[in-house]
Amino acid sequence: MNFIELCQKRYSVRSYHPLAIEQEKLDYVLQCARLAPSAVNFQPWKLQLITNKKDMERIKQCYKRTWFESVSTCIIIYKNKEQEWVRKQDQKAHGDIDVAIITEHICLAAAEQELGTCWVCNFDRAELFNQFEIPEYLEPVVIIPIGYPADEPKDKQRKLMDELMIKLAKK
Ligand SMILES: Cc1cc2nc3c(=O)[nH]c(=O)nc-3n(C[C@H](O)[C@H](O)[C@H](O)COP(=O)(O)O)c2cc1C
Repeated sequence: MNFIELCQKRYSVRSYHPLAIEQEKLDYVLQCARLAPSAVNFQPWKLQLITNKKDMERIKQCYKRTWFESVSTCIIIYKNKEQEWVRKQDQKAHGDIDVAIITEHICLAAAEQELGTCWVCNFDRAELFNQFEIPEYLEPVVIIPIGYPADEPKDKQRKLMDELMIKLAKK
């Protein structure tokens, strides 16, 4: 499978089989996450792997959707606010960008292994803080359910190449 095939293959899976993920596959996905690039190589992230039923119930309190009920494993990606690179010129913090990269490494690696994922950012942040003792320096950014898909991919709705590209006048 080449890269464009992998990009086509990955989609937001919103229904999961109860089948457990093989440990080797999980390890592989996490190794791919580990190799993600980050600004100044600061790696301002932490991953919380949730595999047990009790903790999954806690996560489900933070994202009450029917489809999310089928999830039995997920990874929460936190930004380490104390380790993110901030550009001096304009104080732009880059941690969320770094977290997005590690997250998509997870999603693409999972797809390569026939596993499904879905970015979930629309979770109840306050509820997540109620459910776990999250240290002050961590900001939860995204929850990634992971498991064998029980739905089918839909056609990709994307902007056309012409809409994607821009040409700017020179000053
Ligand atoms: C930053 C981000 C946040 C997202 N948050 C959610 C979410 O909270 N719930 C959800 O069902 N999908 C969420 N998605 C999934 C998008 O809806 C999905 O990626 C997009 O519609 C394209 O579809 P595809 O992933 O199947 O190609 C999110 C995606 C991204 C990149």
